[in-house]
Amino acid sequence: MDNTTFEAKGTITGPMHASLKHDSAHKHVTGSAEYIDDMPEPAGTLHAALGLSERAHADILAIDLSAVKAAPGVVAVITADDIPGVNDVSSNGSHDEPLLATTKVEFHGQPIFVVIGETRDQARRAARLARIDYRDLPHWTDIDGALENGAPLVVSPMTLKRGEPETEMGNAPRRLTGQMYIGGQEHFYLESQIALAIPGEDEDVTVWSSTQHPTEVQHMVAHVLACASHAVTVNTRRMGGGFGGKETQGAHFACLAAVAAKKLNRAVKFRPDRDEDMMVTGKRHDFRVDYELGFDDEGRIHAVDATFAARCGFSSDLSGPVTDRALFHADSSYFYPHVHLTSKPLKTHTCSNTAFRGFGGPQGMVGGERFIEEIAYAVGKDPLDIRKLNFYGEPGSGRTLTPYHQEVEDNILLRLVEELETSSDYRARRQAIMEFNANSPVIRKGIALTPVKFGISFTMTAFNQAGALVHVYSDGSIHLNHGGTEMGQGLYTKVAQVVADTFQVDIERVKITATSTGKVPNTSATAASSGSDLNGMAAYDAARQIKERLIEFACRKWQVAASDVEFLPNRVRVGTDTLTFDALVKAAYFDRVQLSAAGFYKTPKIHWDRAAGRGRPFYYFAYGAACSEVSIDTLTGEYLVDRTDILHDVGRSLNPVIDIGQVEGAFVQGMGWLTTEELWWDGKGRLRTHAPSTYKIPLASDRPKIFNVKLAEWSENREQTIGRSKAVGEPPFMLGISVLEALSMAVASIADYTVCPRLDAPATPERVLMAVERLKAM
Ligand code: MTE
Ligand code: MOS
Repeated sequence: MDNTTFEAKGTITGPMHASLKHDSAHKHVTGSAEYIDDMPEPAGTLHAALGLSERAHADILAIDLSAVKAAPGVVAVITADDIPGVNDVSSNGSHDEPLLATTKVEFHGQPIFVVIGETRDQARRAARLARIDYRDLPHWTDIDGALENGAPLVVSPMTLKRGEPETEMGNAPRRLTGQMYIGGQEHFYLESQIALAIPGEDEDVTVWSSTQHPTEVQHMVAHVLACASHAVTVNTRRMGGGFGGKETQGAHFACLAAVAAKKLNRAVKFRPDRDEDMMVTGKRHDFRVDYELGFDDEGRIHAVDATFAARCGFSSDLSGPVTDRALFHADSSYFYPHVHLTSKPLKTHTCSNTAFRGFGGPQGMVGGERFIEEIAYAVGKDPLDIRKLNFYGEPGSGRTLTPYHQEVEDNILLRLVEELETSSDYRARRQAIMEFNANSPVIRKGIALTPVKFGISFTMTAFNQAGALVHVYSDGSIHLNHGGTEMGQGLYTKVAQVVADTFQVDIERVKITATSTGKVPNTSATAASSGSDLNGMAAYDAARQIKERLIEFACRKWQVAASDVEFLPNRVRVGTDTLTFDALVKAAYFDRVQLSAAGFYKTPKIHWDRAAGRGRPFYYFAYGAACSEVSIDTLTGEYLVDRTDILHDVGRSLNPVIDIGQVEGAFVQGMGWLTTEELWWDGKGRLRTHAPSTYKIPLASDRPKIFNVKLAEWSENREQTIGRSKAVGEPPFMLGISVLEALSMAVASIADYTVCPRLDAPATPERVLMAVERLKAM
């Protein structure tokens, strides 16, 4: 045997569970990470700009594009007539979302035509020169307007029911009703939507797209070009943030770039301006929650009845699954003995709302947490006590069944919350805050400790599958590809760790390559936080197959038993000898061993019957808790977050530093949603908050002044996920609810905590001030 022994390091730098840096961290901060707009442009690349509707709802009577066509640098103007295939980019087969409007427009900002110019600036200037005649039709842009006008639903509503809610509501010792508005949210990914389409021979086209869902972009491009999927290759190396905003919304730009590229036989790049991106693409759904609660003097919930009405925009897009997920999370962390929940996915004349971190779950949970607050103020107790009183119980307690008839089997709520309650010193601080408030005329403080329980899996069972492709080259280097996309969340790093760990090699050996529909087909969106669960397992499956072939080869070549082949850090022990991983691979190559494998994974155990409202939509739950303290100025409504403590459950973390980054980022994004980020449409249906000048995302200076973030290190996924980890992408977003509830307590101090302030979200300084004034006037 080849006896090249290798001076092995005791440890390898690529195992699972290690705190490795994000593979692109240094490139992100030095500007060398390549985004699509940084790629060298093919010779003769053209640039696209949108022509947008200037009406919220109207018939188009005439379109005159002569001035657009005559403008300097204009090469072509694309309208619906130029689309060779179907003029539709609805992601769900509903055919309710035209790529370009033809005879009517349904929101202000809807794309009608596209200008292709020699430069982006020329295309943008020309787009303004169109003359379009409209006949206005009635429009409504918000939930109240939709309800007043009897708006249609964009998709059938869902109902979840368990027990006898009607009877038990009547039997409950105490009852109350209420209403809450919860605002939407702009994704504000730093890299806007973008696509670069490069035409090829025959029907071929290659599209570089900033998308969470390359396969869907591939299908959409094939549909609009009327060609087979095999002619379309979609590549995505990384996004500068997606947050759900690139789950379906990238398709428009990719399809239009592809149509123009094939028509003109030149590469076409489509990068909308930030303002256009904000006006055209969908956002988080706003909700109005109407509720009735039955409870007792202890504060124990008997029955809940709630309707979740949502602003869906002009088409269905993902509004069905988003409003469903709102209902799946309207229980937050609490057992509702009798419950009736309904969704109302309303059509509005606004951009089509879409996925956004948590996918409706956060809105459902904000509702559920409001129910707790209502009851706490009604019975005069600390909301944390009401939370704990109503938590799901342990198996066997009779308090484990969700409104969708799935058992909560992995409940760690009480341990997690009590650990945070102690480490954050919640009780003493709340006492101190109440004393402070009693003596403080202007500044008031609030504190709240809120839990998170988030269901992991796509509720559409078929989406819970993934593929991967692993090549080991004869020099021992490894090429990794899988269906997941990288948007900053660290998925590529985590999956590379899985592969490095399987072969016991350094992470530097594993080349992470751009997601491509040509390498791994039929993938799901990287969404629902399940990227590492799904792709980690698929990559493990591929690596495991190659490893097994290497073991089988070694046994054959050196006549040892399989138990005598052991993968050590960067080398392999065969019997009593060791050789380097490279040497083993080279020897296997010369013996004609296949060193490439495709892997596959599908999530076990899950099923869901939407019509019946029953099943096991989630493989498991991820948990967390946050305690936030705020100060408000009761004369201006301004506020600060003084301190936040977080304890979050990621099972056995695949990479603790990346996970902590996800928890911190998600918390701040959740806090921004519930505090300063406000979307506002005017009477004409124009979005007036379409730039950072009018739409306020959190700044570094808005972060909690004291910010303690910990992972629950004792937690381990009881299900057989990769490395017993849990998904982390979305669940910590809902830790931001602690800030809303803390603001609510500070406001409640005005009326000595006797009234639930019913603070709507986002709790902007204006809303806080109005809530203070309302209580002062009582
Ligand atoms: N983190 C960063 N940095 N950028 C993002 O766009 N998207 C979030 C979350 N974390 C996002 C992010 C959303 S909406 C989801 S669903 C998950 O990442 C998707 O990735 P994962 O499944 O690999 O966690
Ligand atoms: Mo995340 S909203 O599921 O892309």
